[in-house]
Amino acid sequence: MEIFRIMGGKPIRGTIRIGGAKNAILPLLAASLLTEEPVCLTGCAALSDVENMIRILGMLGAGAKMEDDVITVNPAQASRWEMPEHLSKLIRSSIFMLGPILGRFRKATVTYPGGCEIGLRPIDLHLKGLRALGVRIREAHGMIYCDGSHMHSGEIMLDFPSVGATENVMMAAVLIPGKTVILNAAREPEITDLQEFINSMGGCVSGAGTGMIVIDGVKKLRGTHYRVMPDRIVAGTLLTAAAMTGGDIAVRGARACDLDAVLDKLSAAGCEIIADDEGISLKGPEKLRPVDVSTQPYPGFPTDMQAQMLSMCCVAHGTSVIIENVFESRFAHAAQLIRMGADITVSHRAAIVRGGRLTGARVCAKDLRGGAALVLAGLAAEGATEIQGVSLIDRGYESLEKMLGGLGADITRI
Ligand code: UD1
Repeated sequence: MEIFRIMGGKPIRGTIRIGGAKNAILPLLAASLLTEEPVCLTGCAALSDVENMIRILGMLGAGAKMEDDVITVNPAQASRWEMPEHLSKLIRSSIFMLGPILGRFRKATVTYPGGCEIGLRPIDLHLKGLRALGVRIREAHGMIYCDGSHMHSGEIMLDFPSVGATENVMMAAVLIPGKTVILNAAREPEITDLQEFINSMGGCVSGAGTGMIVIDGVKKLRGTHYRVMPDRIVAGTLLTAAAMTGGDIAVRGARACDLDAVLDKLSAAGCEIIADDEGISLKGPEKLRPVDVSTQPYPGFPTDMQAQMLSMCCVAHGTSVIIENVFESRFAHAAQLIRMGADITVSHRAAIVRGGRLTGARVCAKDLRGGAALVLAGLAAEGATEIQGVSLIDRGYESLEKMLGGLGADITRI
């Protein structure tokens, strides 16, 4: 059980280059199953969720390996359509395998997925979308049995723009003849990355980034070399670290167009931000102003930056209100921040944060982004902070202690 030990009070300064986005790499790896030719993804970050996805592909017969920042998948020998239960419990993203397995084998058996404990996270929209494509689904004893022998194209209206459901239906529909339309589709940049990836394999998908995605089925996909999009949440986390410590940082590779809502709040808090083709630079103010944040599907403020922003509000001069609209129980970090001296009241989906000082304490990460928020709090706090549950943080940040250490933070993994 590793922990992070942080001595707070050091400004985050310097230049850093970020890696590929976890939330893009995972569906891209799943979509690799749709071809029988080799797929090469570059710019990948070494994250535990990615390692687990590589293991899942291996269990299905699609050899996958990572060397430096390159993942190579050889899906030719993939032969299993049953997802091993012990692995699918490890990451929620294993549910992404359902669409591509169905696309390739026209049948699939999966278990209910695992993942962060940030809400109920049902998969009804995934299943509704697949049913609209003619998949017959039987749920029994925690297993989901899918028969895709009568799959056909169709029109799917999502009740909520779910990222995972949009991606799953996109992947299931690519090899079905005819035109499939997803309405009220998620508009996240990772959806656009999946579209570009599928099209680089010879697929015909359009509309990603809007609420309507059109998939014109093709007979076959070829292999591809593809560079994964940069991780907007890692970029946002590092920028917030600089904001909270009165630092000065340049995040190379970060794309401002993916981060509009986050940069808007950092700027409202008093940060000076410059974005260009190279990346995003931020200079933190002497005194942070409070900000009100309400999470929404993209292009609204991302729920995956809510915890970090809440942490920042703990050291702002004034009162902030944070509302979480996407997941129903995503404030586990608040109780930990209170241990560090934060003044936070949580009621249902709202957190009221009266800014002040943070002091070092022993705290525990309860989920991935909440864990990152505790690291940021530790950087801004007076004295020493120890954070347990580092393995949750490793799911989405490649050696966060090395990234921050290189930027002047006093942080060690022990
Ligand atoms: C993805 C991201 C996650 C991010 C989230 C929202 C990946 C690997 N993960 O997760 O980091 O926090 O988008 O931006 O890309 N819902 C249902 N039924 C469903 C599916 C979802 O009710 O069938 C609900 C969820 O419980 C949640 C909301 O819809 O309240 C959003 O979920 P969704 O957009 O599907 O998130 P994920 O794809 O799981």
